[in-house]
Amino acid sequence: MRAVDIQSEITEILVTEEQILKRLDEIAAQVAVDYADKDLLLVGVLKGAIMVMADFSRALPTVAPIDWMAVSSYGASTKSSGVVQIRKDLDEDLHDRHVLIVEDIIDSGLTLSWLLENFASRGAASVEVFALLRKPDAAKVHVDCRYVGFDIANEFVVGYGLDYAEKYRNLRDVAILAPHVYS
Ligand code: XMP
Ligand code: MG
Repeated sequence: MRAVDIQSEITEILVTEEQILKRLDEIAAQVAVDYADKDLLLVGVLKGAIMVMADFSRALPTVAPIDWMAVSSYGASTKSSGVVQIRKDLDEDLHDRHVLIVEDIIDSGLTLSWLLENFASRGAASVEVFALLRKPDAAKVHVDCRYVGFDIANEFVVGYGLDYAEKYRNLRDVAILAPHVYS
C-alpha cells in the first residue's frame, strides 16, 4: 500500500495517535480509581479492539488479565445488523468477575447491547464498557458506556484497529474513509 494510495482513500484524519494515547492515560487513571478494590478482567472484542487494548492495558497502573471474544454482526458491509454470532468465545469464566469490555467503537450499539446481555447471563459481578469511539448520531439502542474516548460524527472511520474489508487497521490515526472506497 503506497502512501499516495492512502491519501486518496481517506478524507480527513479525525483523531491522531497522540490524542488517543493522551486520552487512554486519562481513562486508565480513572479506571484505576474506580476498580481500586476490585480485580478487573479486560475483555477485548476482536479484531477492532486490538490496538486500543494494547495501549489501554499498558496505560493501567495495575496488572489485569486480558481475554478476547470475536463476534460478527451481519448486514451491509458498513452497517451492523444486530444479529450477532460468536466466532470465538471467551477462555475465562465470567462468574463473579468484574468485566470491563474494551471496544473500538459504538456505532448503532447493537453489538454491545447484545454482548452486555450475554455477559450478564454468565453471572458476571459487574460489566462495564470502555469504547474508544462513539457515534451518538448513529445510536439505535442505548448502551450504558461508562468510559468513552471520543464522540465522533456519523461517518465510517478506519485506522487504529478499525478496518474496512480488513484494510487500514494498521493506520496509526483514526481517519474518515472516503465514501468512494465503499459505495
Ligand atoms: P454497532 O455498534 O453498530 O457496531 O453494533 C458494531 C461493530 O461494527 C464495527 N464498526 C465500524 N468499523 N468503522 C469501522 O471500521 C466504523 O465506522 C465502524 N462502525 C462500526 C466495529 O467493529 C463495531 O464494534
Ligand atoms: Mg468492534
